Amino acid sequence: MKIARTKQLKEKPDYSKLGFGKYFTDHMIVMDYVNGKWNELEIVAYSQFSFDPSMNAMHYGQGIFDGLKAYANTNGEIQLFRPTENLNRFNRSAARLCMPEIDIDVVLRGLKKLIDIDREWLPKEDGTSIYIRPTMLGTEEALGVHPSKSYRFFIILSPVASYYANGLEPVKILVEEKLVRAVTGGTGNIKCMGNYAASLLAGARANEKGYAQVLWLDAYEHKYAEEVGAMNIFFVIDGIVKTPQLLGSILPGITRDSVIALLKDEGVPIEETRISIEEVVSAHKNGKLDEVFGSGTAAVISPVGVLGYNGVDLIINNNKMGKLSAGLYKKLTDIQYGRSQDKFGWIEKI
Ligand code: PLP
Ligand code: COI
Repeated sequence: MKIARTKQLKEKPDYSKLGFGKYFTDHMIVMDYVNGKWNELEIVAYSQFSFDPSMNAMHYGQGIFDGLKAYANTNGEIQLFRPTENLNRFNRSAARLCMPEIDIDVVLRGLKKLIDIDREWLPKEDGTSIYIRPTMLGTEEALGVHPSKSYRFFIILSPVASYYANGLEPVKILVEEKLVRAVTGGTGNIKCMGNYAASLLAGARANEKGYAQVLWLDAYEHKYAEEVGAMNIFFVIDGIVKTPQLLGSILPGITRDSVIALLKDEGVPIEETRISIEEVVSAHKNGKLDEVFGSGTAAVISPVGVLGYNGVDLIINNNKMGKLSAGLYKKLTDIQYGRSQDKFGWIEKI
């Protein structure tokens, strides 16, 4: 690992107005893949890249990323939540797009060093953290459609507060009935940039109507719930927690997996299954749709207060965060911020 620290430190933002992903720390990781192998990982000053206009990622979209967080724990230490899971998923994304895999040990060691160097940036306010964004781009300069021969891997860090503007207030979600996000056999189960580009139109239309994001349905029948733009989705129907099973078109969220583990640990019934939107509507009609919430690194546990479908707004739990969602939020964040014992082995200290 090569380290070139900068002396030109940036001014820190107002930490009471952080929002999500607007500010970046003083350093970053850069590692290039050339001639069939990775160069040494470097920690350098956060700065702009210069690329040739013909580079692969700008035309054919060989571009992947992941997202994880570093938290300040109660002893003043910094800790990561399940980082190896994110880096493994990053490698699965790489493999799907014919990109080279990274050496997880090398990258995790580099990441810990990077966070240590920029530790002054870690916000301490409630619900804040450093969001970590590993990314890889195909950089070969050529217009033929083939896997790039060269790549740039980088990691940037951003001090963040909650993903949604209103923090833990329930969000309004619109069920998308026409456009689709992903199909089985496609790229819905990895984090490639194109998935997010393809989701923007539905998201923008939903925003115009006052909804924060859309709930995607399956691409074949437009019938079964899949996931939300930046989070997996859970429905609590008549005391049973249900979440869409992983059939290849949705992202296997690490928070989703953690929520399932927490629920199993508490003995709460949890089913990974197919959930039709009609089942959700009918449960609502019969007073059995107890709660709906999303899970994600950025979104944490995010209650859904309104679900718009077919021109009707279903109001869930009086548009308030439910007991089960609130309990999960507390259990998960208590582990992430080191306020409770990490009995699942999810925490890795810097
Ligand atoms: N689904 C999508 C499309 C996402 O972008 C994310 C965020 O990464 C998630 C779900 C949640 O995944 P995770 O819990 O690993 O952050
Ligand atoms: C995450 O939760 O890490 C995400 O990637 C969501 C979004 C910012 C794309």
